[in-house]
Amino acid sequence: MQNKPHLQPAESRELLQCALKAARLGREVLLHYFGRLENIQEKFQAGLVSEADKESERVIRDHLARSYPEIDFLGEESAGDLSKVQSRSEKGRWILDPLDGTTNYIHRFPVFAVSLGLEINGELQVAVIDAPMMGTGEVYTAMKGQGAFLNGRKLSVSKTTGLKDAFLATGFVSDIEDNLAEQLKVFPQIVRQARGIRRAGAAAYDLALVARGIFDGYWEKGIKPWDAAAGVLLVREAGGTVMTYRGRPYDVFNNSIIAATPAIATALQKEIEPHIRPDTH
Ligand code: IPD
Ligand code: CA
Repeated sequence: MQNKPHLQPAESRELLQCALKAARLGREVLLHYFGRLENIQEKFQAGLVSEADKESERVIRDHLARSYPEIDFLGEESAGDLSKVQSRSEKGRWILDPLDGTTNYIHRFPVFAVSLGLEINGELQVAVIDAPMMGTGEVYTAMKGQGAFLNGRKLSVSKTTGLKDAFLATGFVSDIEDNLAEQLKVFPQIVRQARGIRRAGAAAYDLALVARGIFDGYWEKGIKPWDAAAGVLLVREAGGTVMTYRGRPYDVFNNSIIAATPAIATALQKEIEPHIRPDTH
């Protein structure tokens, strides 16, 4: 994998198969513990964690390490201090949220997913989002340059161009007061204009629904690389635009994200930018 500018289609396919298998192992853990949790803890400024998050990460990580020992790994439950983590990996790096939507899951609200992306040299290459309790089980996949799919069906973002027609998603990270304050300043500007806004509680799934054309756009402050990695590739591969609140191209280490149809992304960015803090990037 070292220093590879591009993956061959066959390599991407193999990596995707491995990611799918890993996500399936995580999904089994999540289905097993759903409604049966015994150990819920609060993390420092990072929400809740349960035995399901930890075990899902363990089985996925083990599978990835067995299949591709040379590829790095960044997972929510083992990441530690993100400021010490390199912003890109030349060898390639799996970026995993073993349970996106932890609060939903703990409260038995079925919007949650395993989210697994592969980044090489700062480029997202492969994505899987597995949302086992949505419909009869939704598995979203993407490979760079080859489109985004739901259970094998090709996806594209919606054709919506105006905010007044837009059905949107957002989220509020409540653990960090500055992020929350900024989100709460932005929210009234958009709620007054959009057709509707939903807060489903799983950023990866919000992004998957943008790729699918159900949501016309999504914005949030303070999500982490593991919340975003897979979903961002899905949105891009479905024809969407992903940028920061400053209107710059998004990288998973940025602390703000807008993911939407190209026109809605521009419209959201225009509404958001006047309210952002100096440390928003
Ligand atoms: C959270 C969810 C939520 C979003 C938060 C995330 P977690 O991830 O994606 O929708 O608003 O920003 O931290 O804690 O459930 O993995
Ligand atoms: Ca999580």
